[in-house]
Amino acid sequence: MSPLPPGPREPPVLQTAHWLLRPISFLESCRRSFGDTFSVRFLGFRTPMVMVTHPDAIRALYSVREHGLPPGRTVALLPIVGPRSLLLLEGRAHLARRRMMLPPFHGERMRAYESIVRDAVERDVERWPVGQSFALHPRMQAITLDVILRAVFGVTDQGRRARLAERLGHLLASTSSVGLQFGVLLSRRLGGPDPLARLQTVRHEIDALLAAEIAERRADPRDDILSMLIAARFEDGGAMDDEELRDQLMTLLLAGHETTATGLAWTFDLLLRHPRALARLVAEVAAGEEAYLRAVVAESLRLRPVVPLAGRRLSSELRVNGHVLPPGTDVTPAIWLAHTRADRYPEPFAFRPERFLEDAPATYAWIPFGGGVRRCLGAAFAEMEMRVALAEILRRRALRPASSAAERVARRNVTFSPRTGTRVVAEVLVA
Ligand code: HEM
Repeated sequence: MSPLPPGPREPPVLQTAHWLLRPISFLESCRRSFGDTFSVRFLGFRTPMVMVTHPDAIRALYSVREHGLPPGRTVALLPIVGPRSLLLLEGRAHLARRRMMLPPFHGERMRAYESIVRDAVERDVERWPVGQSFALHPRMQAITLDVILRAVFGVTDQGRRARLAERLGHLLASTSSVGLQFGVLLSRRLGGPDPLARLQTVRHEIDALLAAEIAERRADPRDDILSMLIAARFEDGGAMDDEELRDQLMTLLLAGHETTATGLAWTFDLLLRHPRALARLVAEVAAGEEAYLRAVVAESLRLRPVVPLAGRRLSSELRVNGHVLPPGTDVTPAIWLAHTRADRYPEPFAFRPERFLEDAPATYAWIPFGGGVRRCLGAAFAEMEMRVALAEILRRRALRPASSAAERVARRNVTFSPRTGTRVVAEVLVA
């Protein structure tokens, strides 16, 4: 008898299509039919993936350092980030990098990056149309890309930033379509040409631009994160070589840019449809307070978690919900389901930042950044960037939604993204 919990009976191709095209309805139907724990089968994966949603199960999963990564992450990310990426390494190799890369992302250092975010917002907002509808998500992408290029890569020259931003935008857009993801999974299943091969040219162009930045920073270190990574040492005294630095830069870019932009777009989508929360936030921002701002960010990441899955491949057995899952099983929290449990969050589908004013998010019931030894390295950076960008935008523009219908969730690469890009209308605020 299979020790795995039951799950949908459709063939993998249908489960995959449902997951890629209508992820929330897929997850909800699993919750309705199977409860807290269930197994899904995705195309291209030889074994089922067990999804868990109870905080105790999530704690048990994330507390064991030795668990590995399930194969899904590699499929989506390897072509962009390269083999030595922190996102893809496991075991000792992963821990060694993580130790090196943590200090620049420590919470206390975040103040140093606030002015970069403010500046990026200020310059972008000046170019927004006034009185006409436009999509906010691409603007957030431009801002978060600019922030990473400056704070992480340390590119101060505007022309170079524009060139890198254009090439990177092209690479990210080409890898994000559902069609391409489906093509990759299918080619793995059936053999045949790899749909990602045609992206090699743009990758090489980006690599050349990054090699120039790395060489410059080696010769003339500054206070960006790249300079800190160049100076950092492994326990044996060795340093990262240029190829590895490139992989980690692409990792930080990929992990940190789209995610934060999407988190911001969702936050605006929610806020603009909740006028009382918006008014309260605008007033608190004007008064220079941060408590409600923090609560808004936490509530947005709860209700619209940007990354839906952050799984592990078990290195030892895991007991959940009466099942004993054997080593080798792929297990992931279904983050959206974990965040909308009625036993943890009264009125789970309501946008109520107030719920986080008194109680900080609980570690294993609020997991937009995953958990344990692989928890998002940039969580403090992302929350800082979201707070500063939100406050700065609300000080400069009055925004309203361009349509009365709330955004639906679409899959974009490894994220849950607003389907139509969060269209808004902006008016200039006179100080
Ligand atoms: C709202 C924005 C963000 C969200 C929702 C997010 C979410 C996540 C999630 C779910 C993971 C996987 C965690 C796990 O497996 O337990 C992750 C990993 C990671 N994130 Fe983020 N992230 C965000 C922003 C950032 C930023 C700004 C950076 C850096 C500039 C960053 C860098 C990373 C890195 C390097 C990892 C890999 C950590 C490891 O494997 O040890 N992320 N992120």
